[in-house]
Amino acid sequence: MTRGHLQIVVCAAGPAADVTQLITTASQQSWTTAITATPSAHDFIDTAALERLTGHPVRSTYRSSPGTRRALPAANALIIAPVTYNSLNKIALGIADNYAMTTIAELIDRQVPTVVVPFVNAALAARAPFQRALASLRSERVRVFLGTDDGWEPHPPGSGNDRQRAFPWTAALEAATRWPARHRPVAPIAADSKRA
Ligand SMILES: Cc1cc2nc3c(=O)[nH]c(=O)nc-3n(C[C@H](O)[C@H](O)[C@H](O)COP(=O)(O)O)c2cc1C
Repeated sequence: MTRGHLQIVVCAAGPAADVTQLITTASQQSWTTAITATPSAHDFIDTAALERLTGHPVRSTYRSSPGTRRALPAANALIIAPVTYNSLNKIALGIADNYAMTTIAELIDRQVPTVVVPFVNAALAARAPFQRALASLRSERVRVFLGTDDGWEPHPPGSGNDRQRAFPWTAALEAATRWPARHRPVAPIAADSKRA
């Protein structure tokens, strides 16, 4: 009995090579998984190994192979990890220039519980566009896993290889699968409503 389907998007940064850790832990907790990769992320992953592990093709385009179109299961949760400086900025702006970005744009709008875990150095993280992107995503109820409360901070430039080993795969899974109850939408008071 599965708890649901977890869609995972990997971007082109070092920790993408270790996404097997997330797949394995999610599977132990009875989640099914599938990987979507940005086009650049393919250089960082073992596509065939991930397909064996998840049982699904690694998607980067709308078709898994010429002439076939195999839909992925509907997602109950979405983890985008690692997310690069480039992709985080694009997601916040709603740019949909590849299959991964388009999928993410749709799932956020459909209010699928979404966790993003950036892997950026402190110089990139300090840029105004990145700071604006974090605030924008949080305002859309995306859980951005970054900051002192999360124990996950941008790393000093040049220290990415060391930091990669500490990538918070398990914490990201917990954040995605223990999603807080949604607020009930409150109907606006009609401007022409009469008072008793
Ligand atoms: C070896 C290597 C390591 C990289 N590591 C990072 C990284 O840790 N964080 C990051 O934001 N970009 C990193 N980049 C740059 C991204 O790969 C680049 O911006 C790419 O265009 C991102 O594509 P994507 O966002 O579509 O996945 C790295 C590039 C290379 C070649």
